[in-house]
Amino acid sequence: MRRLETHVDTASATYRAYREHNLALADELRTTLHAAKHERTQKALDRLAEQDKLTVRRRLELLLDPGTPFLEFSALAANRHYDGEAPQALLVTGIGVVSGREVVVIANDSSLKGGAWYPITTRKIVRALEIALENGLPVVHMLDSGGANLHLQDEIYATAGHIFKQQCQLSAAGIAQLAVVFGYCTAGAAYTPTLCDQTIMVRERGAIFLAGPPLVKAATGEIVSTEDLGGADMHTSVSGVADYAVDSEVDALELARDVIAMWARRGKADVDRRAPEPPYHDPLELYGIIPDDVKKQFEMREVIARIVDGSLFHEFKPDYGDTLVTGWAFLWGMKVGILGNNGVIYSEAANKAATFMQLCDRDGIPLLFLHNVTGFMVGREYERRGITKDGAKMLMVQANVTVPKLSVLCHASQGAGNYAMSGRTWDPRFLYAWPNSRSSIMGPEVAADTLTHVRVSALRRQGTDPTPEEIASIRDDVIAHFEETYHSYYLTSDLRDDGLIDPTDTRNTLGMSLSAVLNTPIVRTPGGVLRI
Ligand code: COA
Repeated sequence: MRRLETHVDTASATYRAYREHNLALADELRTTLHAAKHERTQKALDRLAEQDKLTVRRRLELLLDPGTPFLEFSALAANRHYDGEAPQALLVTGIGVVSGREVVVIANDSSLKGGAWYPITTRKIVRALEIALENGLPVVHMLDSGGANLHLQDEIYATAGHIFKQQCQLSAAGIAQLAVVFGYCTAGAAYTPTLCDQTIMVRERGAIFLAGPPLVKAATGEIVSTEDLGGADMHTSVSGVADYAVDSEVDALELARDVIAMWARRGKADVDRRAPEPPYHDPLELYGIIPDDVKKQFEMREVIARIVDGSLFHEFKPDYGDTLVTGWAFLWGMKVGILGNNGVIYSEAANKAATFMQLCDRDGIPLLFLHNVTGFMVGREYERRGITKDGAKMLMVQANVTVPKLSVLCHASQGAGNYAMSGRTWDPRFLYAWPNSRSSIMGPEVAADTLTHVRVSALRRQGTDPTPEEIASIRDDVIAHFEETYHSYYLTSDLRDDGLIDPTDTRNTLGMSLSAVLNTPIVRTPGGVLRI
């Protein structure tokens, strides 16, 4: 491997302009994340205190091993939905270390709306359980929720069933699950603690029942207290639905750590490792490298140099298919195969990528995709040379490799280029996005031109000649729609990634993700490597 050289001029006006732009984006991200995670009205905080409940963040602190990192997912889920009334989708999910074991944590935030599930909350739970299933990670459910938000029941009902099915699948896969019941688990939500292997309940706070006292009274006329119907003592000493009753949340979390300490420790997959070392080139320089406009290009090798150990990289086919960089590096001491875009994908680049992925699959090396792609090259010459066929080869290989895939949306990620680089719908184990990134079926201007052309032709066929103002209005509408929906904050709100990250956090985020991935064996796929 050779140390990547840098050609960044940190004294240039462009560098300084980009840096200012990206620092502002990083600042906005920090502020927005802080608000979603921590800022609640006094009324909401008073309500929690009245109920003698801790905030979800405090619960998390008490659960996790002190001083260990927490890889949080989608903290900005729902930030552009439901008029902002469900920050973080009222749910915290992530991978943390408890009693020395990596676990997925799924924790309700009951500071607002009784922690009721919005449709995005349900999808966020499903995604966290998918991460647990794919990566063989145990789960801790921290339950305190009004269950489905009944105003939005139809959308929730369409997804919520997956949660319980995934819990059964986790169990079948031998993956442990613990429930800590801080609040109510009513109706369908009663199945979450019941499908766990072990359940801890807080007396006078936690309750599990198919219907709460008011509904029971309405349905059968029976009058019964919450504790008698589904409280901690009843379930641990009479029904056997739960296993441990404790007096406080603090006791519950201490016991949770003890329970997890009894779980089997599992080994990690065998991958090529070496002692980690920080990048030689300063990761903070990423702010001055990423352009201030998604249409501007940059050199992806400069990014790789600020993510990987020692900025060391062994580039595969360095002189071929130059709009896609491929090669091997170590990240936090773990070997990865990197594919990074340097613009539009041409046939040569697609073919190189396909061969490279086959090599990594043969050797059991996880793949890392760094996106800055507006799609595959279009035009007569390229169609005649078979760009679609070459793109299909890249897609075919990528879809069928068995090594884990990680993706980062670094800048543009558009059209089939997003698919070819293992975008969200191609199921990478983890996918993160930088705040400057934009992702859509095509760029806004191209879409606006296309739709304006279609609309104007239709109007002319009907005998109307649109005025320049009408044409401009058609264009503006399309651009406005794209500007809203291809924005990183919109996409993360709708869970199209596992979280927006500051570019300078990329190395650590990927390091923790790779560590998580290694909880399942890495299968080496036999078969010939084609020199495509
Ligand atoms: N759907 C929609 N909104 C809900 C809700 C639900 N399932 N559960 C609670 N909320 C809302 C309340 O309307 C209230 O809204 P507001 O802040 O706009 O007034 C807010 O959440 C807080 O509810 P409140 O009852 O005042 O809080 P609490 O802390 O005293 O009790 C619960 C919380 C969850 C125990 C209680 O609200 C409850 O039992 N909810 C119904 C649970 C249920 O039967 N769910 C069925 C799921 S399928």
